[in-house]
Amino acid sequence: MTQAQSGPGVIPDPGRIQIVGLGYVGLPLAVLFAEQGFFVTGVDVDKKKIELLEKGRSYVKDLADEELGAALASGRFCPTARYDDSAQAETIILCVPTPLSDRLTPDMSYLHAAVYEIGTRLRPGQLVVLESSTYPGTTSEEMVPILERESGLKAGLDFNVGYSPERIDPGNTKYKVRDIPKVVSGLTPTCLRRTEALYARTFGQTVKVSSPEVAEMTKLLENTYRLINISFMNEMAMLCDTMGIDLWEAIEAAKTKSFGYAAFYPGPGVGGHCIPVDPLYLQWKACEFGTKSAFIELAEKLNRNMADYLLKRVQDRLGNGFRTAVIYGVAYKKDIGDVRESAAIQLIERLLDEGIHVAYHDPNVPVIRIRNREIESSELSDELLNKADCVFIMADHTGIPVQRIVSEARFIVDTRNATFGRNGEHIYRFGSGNVGLERKNPHA
Ligand SMILES: NC(=O)c1ccc[n+]([C@@H]2O[C@H](COP(=O)([O-])OP(=O)(O)OC[C@H]3O[C@@H](n4cnc5c(N)ncnc54)[C@H](O)[C@@H]3O)[C@@H](O)[C@H]2O)c1
Repeated sequence: MTQAQSGPGVIPDPGRIQIVGLGYVGLPLAVLFAEQGFFVTGVDVDKKKIELLEKGRSYVKDLADEELGAALASGRFCPTARYDDSAQAETIILCVPTPLSDRLTPDMSYLHAAVYEIGTRLRPGQLVVLESSTYPGTTSEEMVPILERESGLKAGLDFNVGYSPERIDPGNTKYKVRDIPKVVSGLTPTCLRRTEALYARTFGQTVKVSSPEVAEMTKLLENTYRLINISFMNEMAMLCDTMGIDLWEAIEAAKTKSFGYAAFYPGPGVGGHCIPVDPLYLQWKACEFGTKSAFIELAEKLNRNMADYLLKRVQDRLGNGFRTAVIYGVAYKKDIGDVRESAAIQLIERLLDEGIHVAYHDPNVPVIRIRNREIESSELSDELLNKADCVFIMADHTGIPVQRIVSEARFIVDTRNATFGRNGEHIYRFGSGNVGLERKNPHA
């Protein structure tokens, strides 16, 4: 019996770990494992990232340079751009991107490339775990065949395979990575035991599920639930704007119910690498079975139309007088520096299409690239604020100078309820019902 087939009770030590993909997910995970006493090699094809890491400079906001420095100094974390050490590792964890293609279908190219590199170096007894968010079936149908083809080894017999979704929430200081229960799965019972043993050594709680497909679905379920609920709140906000009711106040009241209600909030649109993306992975896979989710379709459409809705609100108020805009916060949410799929970026593109001059300020994002053009974050001076026809609050970063924006701006579109409690004809708080529309009574 090989190590990969070992019976109950015999669980090989996770040993040396190789983490592939040192981004928002892989880098903090690598440092966490190193802190727990594992020897970790981190592989990333982006040589610039490796250079920064070697100098002890973290590019992930939630990981301080000091934490990275301590992991490097301990000799237990070694970043590299080469896969050469793959064979030395007992455990390999993949944290590579799973974005959408231009046609809004799963882009598996990063995963395929990384799995190929691992497959060509795979040796008997290794455990390979996928953490990237992806559609049900990816581990068994995409990863395993490449590993087997390139190595000539058999999954479940010669090597083990697991899937364990990453559930971090960037910018969330309340829940550290190790405090979030880790959902674990394996291709076979032994694969599951090894995968669970790996994470049980580092995470506070592990949650076993019966197959990689269930674990993959778990992650998509969580993110689809968020997309649908936030999109629902955005629809409710539009409705409340028309009806002259403050949705934010209604949410606070609804939250006081001790059961049966989970609060979600309106905003400028759902962004990030996961929540607007993962439901489309699920939808794509469902199509393969000749079915689809009407909820995902609707939520996706609502989300995609947010920039148009906000633009329309401003045009209704300012008409042809809307020529210049300032965006506060281009990150997709509070206190992070990630602009992937950010609603602010989509709004800027939309404004540029309309010929509107746009400047932005974000303390966490020094520069953005829009349609091959770089735009740098401007200083949020009083002059910048009061010269713009409209100031959009798109991310309510800690330290946002709300009072100054309220005093200096000529017109404000606040998508985050940041101006709550401050009144003024020049403030449009999305979902607060103060949109300035005339009320029509269809029953009259
Ligand atoms: N960012 C989040 O909040 C979050 C949360 C949960 C799950 N996830 C999922 O985790 C996965 C990774 O996301 P991320 O945010 O860390 O992405 P990221 O883009 O920040 O990091 C991925 C890293 O992988 C590297 N890479 C790409 N191809 C590679 C290859 N062939 N070999 C080695 N390295 C390679 C990239 O250079 C990059 O540094 C995705 O599937 C994502 O959906 C992300």
